[in-house]
Amino acid sequence: MSRLAVVTGGGTGIGRATAGMLAGEGYDVIIVGRRPDVLAEAVKWIGPQATAVTADCADPAQLPTLVEAVAGRPVDVLVNNAGAFISPSPAASSSPAAPSSPAAPSSPGVAPSPGAAASSGAVASPGAAASPGAADGGADLAELAARWRATFDSNVTTAVLTTEALRPFLRRPGGRVILTSSIAAQRGGGGPYSAAKAALHGWMFDLATQLGPEGITANVIAPGYVTDSEFFTGRMTEEGHRHRVEATLVKRAGLPDDIAEAVRWLAGPGGTFVTGQIINVNGGSVLGR
Ligand SMILES: NC(=O)c1ccc[n+]([C@@H]2O[C@H](COP(=O)([O-])OP(=O)(O)OC[C@H]3O[C@@H](n4cnc5c(N)ncnc54)[C@H](OP(=O)(O)O)[C@@H]3O)[C@@H](O)[C@H]2O)c1
Repeated sequence: MSRLAVVTGGGTGIGRATAGMLAGEGYDVIIVGRRPDVLAEAVKWIGPQATAVTADCADPAQLPTLVEAVAGRPVDVLVNNAGAFISPSPAASSSPAAPSSPAAPSSPGVAPSPGAAASSGAVASPGAAASPGAADGGADLAELAARWRATFDSNVTTAVLTTEALRPFLRRPGGRVILTSSIAAQRGGGGPYSAAKAALHGWMFDLATQLGPEGITANVIAPGYVTDSEFFTGRMTEEGHRHRVEATLVKRAGLPDDIAEAVRWLAGPGGTFVTGQIINVNGGSVLGR
């Protein structure tokens, strides 16, 4: 029987490229996402080795559908790739106490401008409480709480629940767990997005420690700026693109295949002795962390 891979967020962008690469390597691939039409298109693109499961990976009630699809087979590769940058609401963006706009230079994939880290943080600056829009102190905090929770759900809870649901089925020995983080985890600038991706790193250390003795590796891939996905839909400008490309040493944007190649290495024989690591695939935008 073929080896089995599960890729969350496999309907678009990096996840779709990764699922396509794994199918090309001979894996049966289950892709997971919330939109059945998008998944159906991706299955067509990937080919007959792909099947789709429609599920919100942040919802514990929806994970059993994925477990059913796995049907007791050993999972050779689990790629926890689902995630998103949750933009602040327009009202919150216009408030001085709110996180900075994702289109500003402080968004993920771009070096923050001086002072950007302070403006993208969750802690209001002195005097912010007296500013218009934060006068009662409640409205902004409610928005902030909703955005942080949604961001952690999207980027952390998805990975935790999917991994825990499939943990009993991971191939022993030989299984691979891969988490998609971001360059934003290393240099900030994305507010809750940076924090959520950084949380994956700490959790991955535990995962690698727990699973290592069972012959399973766990690693994080931290992509830099990657185009040809839905990640920046509606929030990218020409200048933002240029700025991000300039921030790389190789003077180009990343492509979903660049990340899929890192998965190929970690999932293949070359990845056997690599665990508990953060693999940067960012064109040199952040050096050697
Ligand atoms: N593009 C970049 O520059 C970049 C840089 C660093 C890191 N990343 C990370 O790379 C990963 C893939 O991003 P991408 O660039 O390929 O963007 P993308 O095209 O938006 O892919 C994200 C995928 O995750 C799925 N997804 C989101 N929330 C989900 C949930 N709760 N349950 C199940 N599926 C969910 C989405 O499908 P549905 O909406 O249909 O569920 C979508 O297919 C993300 O974790 C992102 O944070 C991207």
